[in-house]
Amino acid sequence: MELDKALDLIAEVPDFPEPGVLFRDLSPMFADAAGFKAVTDALAATIGPEVDLLAGVEARGFLLAAAVGYARGLGVALIRKPGKLPRVAGRVGYALEYGTATVELPEGVVQPGQRVAILDDVLATGGTVAATCKLLEDAKAQVTGVSVVMELAGLGGRSVLEGRHVEALRVC
Ligand code: PRP
Ligand code: HPA
Repeated sequence: MELDKALDLIAEVPDFPEPGVLFRDLSPMFADAAGFKAVTDALAATIGPEVDLLAGVEARGFLLAAAVGYARGLGVALIRKPGKLPRVAGRVGYALEYGTATVELPEGVVQPGQRVAILDDVLATGGTVAATCKLLEDAKAQVTGVSVVMELAGLGGRSVLEGRHVEALRVC
């Protein structure tokens, strides 16, 4: 499937999770074999050769990082929401488009100096990815870049990540 057609599978849902938010629902794309493959292949092509590890952000980022990791022969650092990890190497809190959140890094998955590429589904305010960058850099990893399926340009995520390499398959 062409990438554009795959991205057209992403649904727009008004007023979720609260009034005024136009939520992009990637579920139909994930459920479509050809669509998911086209998106995975396109994301895999954004990851340069000089990357040692991927980082995927819970929950939808896990799916993308796992698929791209398999395609590219790379492992995945699972960046988790709080309360899931038995051993926490680091924790960073941040603000979301709606509410607040925290991300945690498991112990023993990132080595100092490793080059890590971050994958997620949506870049909105950039809070999640910025917190993930801090988490990885606090662990002395080097963040090589950020790849997302969809960037919501109106929410300013790219400016929060100024100076970083950001790739989005579609900018809305
Ligand atoms: C969503 C999305 C990104 C983040 C983007 O995650 O998957 O991780 O918000 O928003 P930001 O750029 O404003 O930080 P959510 O917390 O809804 O997690 P989920 O994948 O578990 O549904
Ligand atoms: N879709 C999915 N995740 C999100 C969105 C969205 O529209 N906005 C912020 N996180």
